[in-house]
Amino acid sequence: MGNDRTNRATGLLIELPEDGGSLYERLTSGIRAAIAEGRLAPGHLLPPSRALAAELGCSRWVVNEAYTQLAAEGRLQTRQGSGTRVTAQPATPSPVDRAPAPRPAPTVPPVVADLRPGAPDVAAFPAPGWTRSLQHVLATADWERSVFPSAAGAWRLREVVAAYLSRVRGLSVENDEVLITCGTSHGVSLVARVLAARGVPNLAVEDPGWSRLHQVAAAAGLVPEPVAVDAEGLDVEALRQTDARAVLCAPAHQFPTGTALSPTRRRALLAWATERSAVIVEDDYDAEFRYDRRPVGALAGLDRSRVVYLGSVSKTLHPGLRLGWLVPPPDLRQPLLDALDTGAAGPSTLDQLTFAGFADTGGYDRHLRRVRKAYRARRDALVTALNSHAIIRDCGPVLGIAAGLHLLVPLPRGLRDHVIAEHLAGRGIATVALSGYAIRRQPPALVIGYGRLSPSRAQWAAEQLAEVLLDELNRTA
Ligand SMILES: Cc1ncc(COP(=O)(O)O)c(C=O)c1O
Repeated sequence: MGNDRTNRATGLLIELPEDGGSLYERLTSGIRAAIAEGRLAPGHLLPPSRALAAELGCSRWVVNEAYTQLAAEGRLQTRQGSGTRVTAQPATPSPVDRAPAPRPAPTVPPVVADLRPGAPDVAAFPAPGWTRSLQHVLATADWERSVFPSAAGAWRLREVVAAYLSRVRGLSVENDEVLITCGTSHGVSLVARVLAARGVPNLAVEDPGWSRLHQVAAAAGLVPEPVAVDAEGLDVEALRQTDARAVLCAPAHQFPTGTALSPTRRRALLAWATERSAVIVEDDYDAEFRYDRRPVGALAGLDRSRVVYLGSVSKTLHPGLRLGWLVPPPDLRQPLLDALDTGAAGPSTLDQLTFAGFADTGGYDRHLRRVRKAYRARRDALVTALNSHAIIRDCGPVLGIAAGLHLLVPLPRGLRDHVIAEHLAGRGIATVALSGYAIRRQPPALVIGYGRLSPSRAQWAAEQLAEVLLDELNRTA
């Protein structure tokens, strides 16, 4: 291949340096330079590897390898079905940026793999079914009638959620007991407001736990009070030592440790709530994803009188929908309705009705079956990849793998988990240190979400972690 540039069929101007190693290396540097100089702008679609390979007279392997390398550097993004694009950046490079002078290295490297727990694979959003439901809603009387939406939510959705909870979560409720919210955070904020107005000063929270909900409760006037979590879930004895009259917990799948509250603890927790006339706020955030263990029913299904049940579609569909539900015990129903009525508006009625139609026609169940399978494969790939490294294996078993979209990787004692997370971020891998979710000191561990990690990248991600751990152990030795 004698040419040093290509600008023919693909219209792509890539200068291949004369020297600089193999064709793969020269092509990689050529594309890298084109991006740096702004000739390939953020968002630009690169030619399919077959077309570029034909033009350069090389194998597709060379082009694929170059694309993969540049994706690992965060310069390109590859998406199934929509090709390879130059990574979007906040601003178009200015003429100054294009000047040949060396640019300072960015302080925050681009994220190549976002393994933070929390989000599902939003690329798996069931767009065709959702769109069909949306179109149907726009032609119905429900939509026409909803110019003055009810604060409790669209009736159609309340019916659908009540049926879903009874079928899937063992929670038998009347339609009008379901209140529609903008998600779990909104639900916690409403409950915290109501409890604070009743003179409840604090909210016991699992430590570690999802800090966002602690902040939301604090903003509504409840001081979070940490309670330890062990292999059986929330430590109810430790809860008894506090003077809390309300507790926030995730009994089916503690976040982020992944434990399920044991049957003994479930009974003990309900007994505590009855004795103290306390409220249990149940965060049932990812009940739909169970792999190797029997589904754990909702705690509210055992005793509705003391539990506020919270659910949302943030883990199953898209956190950006801001759609969820709340089922209060009878004595909190009216205060919570009032809080909904006097607070900021709830989720879009169009989204509520669209979700209701989507679920009612079986689309939601089909979607859950499909993604559950994909997530299980991702989990398997990541667990296998992590266990293939002695340095990771030696820290003990990876935890919280039976359910959900994330797992917990114990790290060598003596290392600081936030430092490991920072080093990984330096390699473009976003994770969260367990200490980031903890109020009190915890053994070092990383929380890794696999919802968006394709099985083919799992080995690479595990390798990066193993390398970072080795470097850090050598550095601190
Ligand atoms: C522990 C936990 N609870 C609840 C949620 C869902 O919150 P929301 O419905 O406000 O998006 C998440 C999402 O990340 C979570 O991690």
